[in-house]
Amino acid sequence: MSHEPIQTVGQQYRRRSWAEPYKIKMVEPIRMMSRPEREAAMREAGYNTFLLKSEEVYIDLLTDSGTSAMSDWQWAGMMLGDEAYAGSKNFYNLEAAVRKHYTHRHVIPTHQGRGAEHLLSQIMIKPGDVVPGNMYFTTTRFHQEHAGASFVDVIIDEAHDPAVILPFKGNVDLAKLERVLTENPGKVPYVCLAATVNMAGGQPVSMANARAVKELCSRHHVPVMCDATRAVENAYFIQQREDGYKDKPVDEILREFCSLTDGATMSGKKDPLVNIGGWLSVNDDKIAEQARNLVVVYEGLHTYGGMAGRDMEAMARGIEEAVQDDHIRARIGQVEYLGELLQDWGIPIVLPVGGHAIYLDARRFYPEMPQTSFPAQTLAAELYLDSGVRAMERGIVSAGRNQKTGDHYYPKLEMVRLTLPRRVYTQAHMDVVAESVQAVYQNPNKPAGMKMVYEPEALRFFQARFEPL
Ligand code: F0G
Repeated sequence: MSHEPIQTVGQQYRRRSWAEPYKIKMVEPIRMMSRPEREAAMREAGYNTFLLKSEEVYIDLLTDSGTSAMSDWQWAGMMLGDEAYAGSKNFYNLEAAVRKHYTHRHVIPTHQGRGAEHLLSQIMIKPGDVVPGNMYFTTTRFHQEHAGASFVDVIIDEAHDPAVILPFKGNVDLAKLERVLTENPGKVPYVCLAATVNMAGGQPVSMANARAVKELCSRHHVPVMCDATRAVENAYFIQQREDGYKDKPVDEILREFCSLTDGATMSGKKDPLVNIGGWLSVNDDKIAEQARNLVVVYEGLHTYGGMAGRDMEAMARGIEEAVQDDHIRARIGQVEYLGELLQDWGIPIVLPVGGHAIYLDARRFYPEMPQTSFPAQTLAAELYLDSGVRAMERGIVSAGRNQKTGDHYYPKLEMVRLTLPRRVYTQAHMDVVAESVQAVYQNPNKPAGMKMVYEPEALRFFQARFEPL
């Protein structure tokens, strides 16, 4: 994977590489289609990579969600599924793993992250409320708005600039947060603290910032709810970048971070190395009781929440593997490897490189293209046409429309995300991806952009259709 600087030993050059802490026991064949086949597939998919069939994709970097490779220990756990309707032993294993590593006392399982966001929003939000957060996430904000709240972005300004290099670019701007809290007394049900911040490029939050957020919120009697989806990745960045943490193991840092929050919504499909699952965890007894009442309506009984027993076992074991230092170092090391190649070749990406993905700065690929011609959507399509690599738009299409005015939200960041599944691809795959990005960047025939020909009402990026201009 990555390697230490080359050292001269006498006349010889030596380098010392490190590699993934696993070997491969089972493989899944993939194939690359021809350019004309890819052109037909892209047209059929309305130039939206979400609408491609997986079999039409060569290297799938759409998402790191639910795409991890499970270990032999997790697969062995699948065979120990206790498929009782109530009180499955796998639930208690999951509950114990969440309590141990994420600290919150009550664990309500859900089918995935948005199930937990739905429960939390319905329980805590009243119409007219305001929910501050360090940048939005699509499903999270949808559920907040659906319950009647408005979302207010309180992330530091630098997070909206792809070129600014800061170690903790996901931090909350405490002055912005304080303003929201003082101007809306009684109307802030909770603060949503995401670690890491997906839409900012996978940027982390420092421990110092999380502590300051907690103190500020405590003074205003407002709880802090963490989006802990990639909190292990956040803990790794704290270990690498924050003073005083370099000798602490990642699992210890994760516990300290979570102990500064009052609860969490969780997509188990990311850090915890499973293909489906999630949870809502809280310390407050009353909120937990309400969540247990609501989960039976929308997900399933409070001891399975939409998951099979075997899924809960795989997630309980996945959590234990996810917090191992050598795992997380290799996971983020692979993202950094791809990022270094692209940087060396002068490709505009969001800096610093985040935890789960490389974000291409589509504005700098197509400086002439107006945002309303969807530069990131166009770039994702071009990349697929070049090499069969599937990426995801994270720009104006993902941002959606303001529900009150009906106009697009115009995010400053217009990006294409190359998201790395955990434990799935090799260094050679990363080389192929980097070379394709370079080919698209250097292509002198710049595309003109797209027009949207079908727009769904909610979370439009998933199913919208486009045509090239
Ligand atoms: N929060 C964050 C930060 C996420 O990245 C996601 C999902 C969710 C919540 C929702 O979780 O999918 O399990 O319902 N992100 C995926 C992605 C879809 O591709 O970034 P979910």
